[in-house]
Amino acid sequence: MTLTHAHPALAPNGAGRFAARPAARHLLGLEAMDRDDLLRILDEAERWREAMDAREPDSRELAGITVCLGFFEASTRTRVSFELAATRLGARVVTFSVGESSTAKGETLLDTVRVLEAMRVDLFVVRHPASGAPGYIADHLHAGVINAGDGQHEHPTQGLLDLLTLRRVWKGRFEGRRIVLVGDIAHSRVARSAIHGLRTLGAHVTVAGPPTLVPAGIEALGVTVAPALEPALEGVDAVMALRLQRERMEQGLLASTGEYAREWGIDAKRVRLLHEEGVVLHPGPVNRGVELSPDVVDGQRSVIFDQVTNGVAVRCAVLARCARALAEAA
Ligand code: CP
Repeated sequence: MTLTHAHPALAPNGAGRFAARPAARHLLGLEAMDRDDLLRILDEAERWREAMDAREPDSRELAGITVCLGFFEASTRTRVSFELAATRLGARVVTFSVGESSTAKGETLLDTVRVLEAMRVDLFVVRHPASGAPGYIADHLHAGVINAGDGQHEHPTQGLLDLLTLRRVWKGRFEGRRIVLVGDIAHSRVARSAIHGLRTLGAHVTVAGPPTLVPAGIEALGVTVAPALEPALEGVDAVMALRLQRERMEQGLLASTGEYAREWGIDAKRVRLLHEEGVVLHPGPVNRGVELSPDVVDGQRSVIFDQVTNGVAVRCAVLARCARALAEAA
């Protein structure tokens, strides 16, 4: 599959490009989202989480809507939770498999999604290795587009599920809370969405990691850069370990995973540095023994599996929001 390479959305980091895009039928990033908008989505996601816990029957809110899942990169959590969310809301769901489609014969991304839109797809959920690809599609379609992770840019529904998880743990209050994001900040779309959302809601964010994996100028996003991990963890309310994005990494950025685990990995000893109610997050997939020791993944302070459950609730809220905006525009 080829992209139209000259489009400005396809800059290595698409950040900033979407700030002026207001259409609620899309969700392309958290950068442009204000506090009220974030809280509205989290409130709705909270209701979906309660409905899931109470095993309430499925809704018909998206009856008649067709959702296409287009994943141009591997995924377990995001793809399956979008499918479960769309099904829970009564939508028709089609999955676009890159390897088995005409994209393998050289069709452009835009031609492919236009073909699918002609089949009356209403909402596209798109994961793509190119930063800005979902925004590029959104500029050319009447359908809604939800970014399911684009290159090194954003992963907004992951950011929202992280916010929902922390809001439940933090009893609704972000102001004055402190969180450390540790690891591969440079390649992490998860980090970018989390930083935008957490800062907008008033939390203090520190980033830490090997100097080769913390981009110069990251302070412009309103975060503090920690020179060393352990002092940064003292008394914080949460730590989020990030996956080493080997698929986006150039050679030579890391000496070895063993050294990374020693210097930047979160083990039980480091967890004890957090506030006594502090929690451990990870977006997954986890490299056990590298970003987190196995006992931390499965331990009392881990909210990793709760993040996964909240992912379904957040995606219900986001799909419903986009579908409502489409209906209003019709
Ligand atoms: N966190 C996340 O995006 O996981 P998947 O790659 O499994 O979707």
